[in-house]
Amino acid sequence: MTEKDFISDYKYNLVDKGKIESKCGSNIALIKYWGKYYPQLPANPSISYTLSESFTQTTINFEKTAKFSVQVFLGKHFNEKFSKKIEKYFLSIKPYLPFIDKYKYIINTTNSFPHSSGIASSASGFGAIADCLVRMSTLLGEKNNEEFNKVKISFLARLGSGSACRSVYKGLVVWGKHKTIPGSSDLYAIPFPFEISPVFKTIQDTVLLIHEGVKEISSTLGHDLMKDHPYAKTRFTEARKNLSELTMVLQKGDLETFGRIVEHEALSLHAMMMTSFPAFILMKPETLAAIKKIWEFRKDTRHHLYFTLDAGANIHLLYPEEEKNEIFPFINNELIIYSENNKLIKDKAYF
Ligand code: PMV
Repeated sequence: MTEKDFISDYKYNLVDKGKIESKCGSNIALIKYWGKYYPQLPANPSISYTLSESFTQTTINFEKTAKFSVQVFLGKHFNEKFSKKIEKYFLSIKPYLPFIDKYKYIINTTNSFPHSSGIASSASGFGAIADCLVRMSTLLGEKNNEEFNKVKISFLARLGSGSACRSVYKGLVVWGKHKTIPGSSDLYAIPFPFEISPVFKTIQDTVLLIHEGVKEISSTLGHDLMKDHPYAKTRFTEARKNLSELTMVLQKGDLETFGRIVEHEALSLHAMMMTSFPAFILMKPETLAAIKKIWEFRKDTRHHLYFTLDAGANIHLLYPEEEKNEIFPFINNELIIYSENNKLIKDKAYF
């Protein structure tokens, strides 16, 4: 599908008012998206797990008006910054949802996880909003099949926040064109199209909250710094290669190679940050100390405990459910000391 397929000239039945609700999980990338082109197209393909316990719940009340506006409430609190951001986003997607500026919107959104916790609220947030808007188009009479609507939700979520397009589906999700993944596209995400070895459907994600608080560098700036990055070309080629290898590994059930690729991706992402101009470091001393402990634990016990990192200091600890009884006590006794307030988030892949 091309961008044109999402443009709508439907004659909507502009009802006076209504309410729509949606829920969307956050996601954690295994192969990282870092670097983009206008309009929010990825420089390399990525793959992520959608999470089961970390989600955003959103309600949109809309009412016909001559003066378009958006008000966003996080929890019970009005948020001006988000209201402006979403208002701009709504206007930017008008070609795909031409009714959008005929209404005023009150958006109530809550996250099941703490703010600034290292779990991407923009992914689940835009996923939920895009889902609401496509439901709204159906409510206003547009008739498309479910499958097309799902693709459109992913397409619209991407325009809000790139990685959000992956949150639209459960399980393992791929975004970005890749030669060994049929149906993959830069415009929207697709569910991983191959049989997944059962062990990879049980992956636990325990997040070690090393640093709570607002990120010093936004991911928008990080993506931008990849434009003139000395290692950009190599990085994008590497990511493609890593995705090819991971695609095989996910089908075979090879946990060791899974861990090697996923950790390499996490460290490559942070290496890009450390070697961009200006350079920035999001890891904290505790992040490094915890990584060393994980490596030692693995050497001593041979358990399949691996880590990945987002654009922040927190560590996502990945392991199969069948080893939970051995691995979780280690996290809870020995890794928790590196978290700022002795806090963990217990999550898992959502299948
Ligand atoms: O979607 P964005 O612009 O917030 O970028 C997400 C970037 C990473 O979380 C670091 C990697 C990824 O693929 O999710």
